[in-house]
Amino acid sequence: MNNLAIAAYGLRKSYGDKVVLDGVDLSVPEGTIFSLLGPNGAGKTTAVKILSTLISADPGSGDIRVGGHDLTTDPQSVRAAIGVTGQFSAVDGLITGEENMLLMADLHHLSKVEGRRTAARLLERFDLVDAARKPASTYSGGMKRRLDLAMTLVGTPRVIFLDEPTTGLDPRSRHNMWVIIRELVADGATVFLTTQYLEEADELADRIAVLNNGRIAAEGTADELKRLIPGGHVRLRFTDPAAYRSAATTLPDAARDDESLALRIPSDGSQRELRYVLDQLDAAGVEADELTVHTPDLDDVFFALTDGVRVPAPTKVAAR
Ligand SMILES: Nc1ncnc2c1ncn2[C@@H]1O[C@H](COP(=O)(O)OP(=O)(O)OP(=O)(O)O)[C@@H](O)[C@H]1O
Ligand SMILES: [Mg+2]
Repeated sequence: MNNLAIAAYGLRKSYGDKVVLDGVDLSVPEGTIFSLLGPNGAGKTTAVKILSTLISADPGSGDIRVGGHDLTTDPQSVRAAIGVTGQFSAVDGLITGEENMLLMADLHHLSKVEGRRTAARLLERFDLVDAARKPASTYSGGMKRRLDLAMTLVGTPRVIFLDEPTTGLDPRSRHNMWVIIRELVADGATVFLTTQYLEEADELADRIAVLNNGRIAAEGTADELKRLIPGGHVRLRFTDPAAYRSAATTLPDAARDDESLALRIPSDGSQRELRYVLDQLDAAGVEADELTVHTPDLDDVFFALTDGVRVPAPTKVAAR
């Protein structure tokens, strides 16, 4: 049985009347990747800020331990054990990448020699050697993100908080970041990651929690979460509003997306169920412009568990 790198019970936080976290339990075993998912404003950054001692939880919250230390009674030890890469960059654009790294080394009280060695090693690891002497304001978004993470690692943290580490990165940079995150965990670190990309949580996380309305709506492995969602669906898309309306009448079970003229019919994707849908459309004399069959993925879990109606993108095209 692993020790817990993060253990929080009954986490609460309100801003004025607005309850952001309404009794959230989080437990993350050492050496694993935990992903907190949730729509904009769900409270992911708030949770990261509390767990990393940047803000305090409201009175009435239960015990919080990070890296084996009590957050309330021993925040200094927590700070010594963690690293945080915030949602918004901590990089100072006016100085070079290398100077940013050396500044971090100073903050961590590394000796001059040790600081230079650590900075050089991390700049190398994050492929920033060529850019190291240039002002960070000239870096691309992906380079800034890498520098941000490199700065976080100066203190060799055992518990690493990454708040949306790959937002805005192109697919290659995102994959590179995933490789780095896996390496950190292979080296024994624990990663607490927030993300908007369900694919990212699916790819990286040992366990995933979905935050919604201040509470954890579901928690488990990606597979466990997917099993919460029954079956897939058939999606029909129309360009003619009249055809869309007749189809919606003839298929009363369908969820409507009036904006994009799409219908979503719960279905296991079997031939029999597809035929039923097509027969109904034929009987009503309407033809869909696009028919796709969708098998459940983490997106479905997200949409099912969080607020806001949206028809997710199809995964495979079955017929036209
Ligand atoms: N300092 C603050 N004062 C007042 N309200 C705040 C403050 N910080 C956060 N909030 C509110 O708390 C809620 C949660 O914000 P938070 O930044 O934690 O969400 P998030 O899940 O990280 O969202 P995003 O995906 O957009 O980053 C939001 O409604 C936000 O407006
Ligand atoms: Mg956030």
